[in-house]
Formats: sequence, C-alpha cells, structure tokens
Amino acid sequence: MRARHKPWADDYLKENNEVVELNPAEYKGKWRQEISEGRPLHLEIGTGKGQFIEGMAGQYPDIHFIGIEVVKSIIVSAVEKVKDTERANVTLINENAQDLSDLFEDNEIDQMYLNFSDPWPKNRHEKRRLTYHTFLEQYQRILKPNGELVLKTDNRGLFEYSLVSFSQFGCTLEEVTLDLHRLEDPTNVMTEYEEKFSAKGQPIYRCRVQFPK
Ligand SMILES: C[S@@+](CC[C@H](N)C(=O)[O-])C[C@H]1O[C@@H](n2cnc3c(N)ncnc32)[C@H](O)[C@@H]1O
Repeated sequence: MRARHKPWADDYLKENNEVVELNPAEYKGKWRQEISEGRPLHLEIGTGKGQFIEGMAGQYPDIHFIGIEVVKSIIVSAVEKVKDTERANVTLINENAQDLSDLFEDNEIDQMYLNFSDPWPKNRHEKRRLTYHTFLEQYQRILKPNGELVLKTDNRGLFEYSLVSFSQFGCTLEEVTLDLHRLEDPTNVMTEYEEKFSAKGQPIYRCRVQFPK
C-alpha cells in the first residue's frame, strides 16, 4: 500500500491517544480489564486505512477490535475513520506485528484477521509473509484455545502458501473458500483492497483456521 510521507503523522497519533495506544506493551495481559471493559478481543494485523476494522466495530459493538499497522502515514487514515464514526470499541497500534508476544499474553486474543497481507512473492522474502511459521508460532500463543484466524486475499500464491503453512503447523482448516463473493455472505465486511480487486473481477479467497493447543 503506497502512502505519501506525512511529516505531521507523529504528532497526529499522539494527539489521538484515545484511538491509538502509544505504549501497547503496558497492557500485555490486561487488555480485557483495562481497555475492552470485558469485551472479547479481536486482532487485525496489517489494518491499512481501517475500512475493515471500522466496519466490523460498527457491526459488532460487543467486541473490541485491535488493529496493528506498521506504517505511520497509513495508520493515520484508520485513525481518521475511527474518529469520524466515534467508535469506542477500536484501539489502533502503530507497530510491526513481528513481536506480538510483547504486546499480548498467551490466550489473550479471541479471534484474528489477516486481510490482503503483502504476498512477498520472492523466496528470499518468505520470512516476511505473515503466515510464515514464526508468525504462526506467535498467533498460536496469543490466541485462545478454539480461537480462529480468518485470512482473506486476492493473491492465489499467498493463499496456497498459507494453506500449506497452516497445515504443516497442525492447524485445522475450518473453511476454505475460493470465491468469497459468490457466497454472498451478508456478514462479510470488505477491506479497501477487497473492494479494489473484486471490482476488477478477481476472486477473493478466504480461509478460517484453528491452531493446535
Ligand atoms: C496490502 S495492505 C492491505 C491493507 C488492508 N488490510 C486491506 O485489506 O485493505 C497490507 C498492510 O499491512 C501492513 N503490514 C505489513 N506487514 C506488517 C507487519 N509486520 N506489521 C504490521 N503491519 C504490517 C502494511 O503496511 C499494509 O498497510
């Protein structure tokens, strides 16, 4: 996702600390008590400009959504969306998701989402894919037993890679869909990338997996 450099982004994130958590590691093990008021916690990695998390927060007010986005100039757009709709059940974090265990205690998260993650098609970049086994090890730790991860993508290569990676890790595939929009799932909340690629006629792939405990 391209983003123009926004020199004011740092200050903007600091000013909006009701939406952006600036010291997320402080809440490790305490998200439910101190942030979500006891509501279940759903975590999206690579939130982008926030269309999905904002839409989900509106559809499910009894769930608290946490979005992690590494690029500052992109996360500011997500902050703007959440502020505009005054969603109280969203927290955004400007971090790299490679160290999730620093932010969340084991079994702290109820559900996770990976939406249109960067495919990193070159073999030498395999470790950067968000379904590489080092990431799966962290997801397994922070997800509750029976907690699900839901992945959506337009990228066939990343989808096939992820299915193999999940199976090798011992995950249970609960659902595999090769054309999500043909299902006409009324609960599906579209992401920015999903809108863009489906408008071009590209199929959207989705899978739901559970981790071994
Ligand atoms: C291709 S975009 C998709 C954005 C959005 N999820 C969507 O579906 O429209 C992927 C996003 O993931 C973010 N991202 C990639 N790797 C990340 C990581 N390790 N931690 C946090 N965010 C990451 C990128 O900065 C980018 O904004």
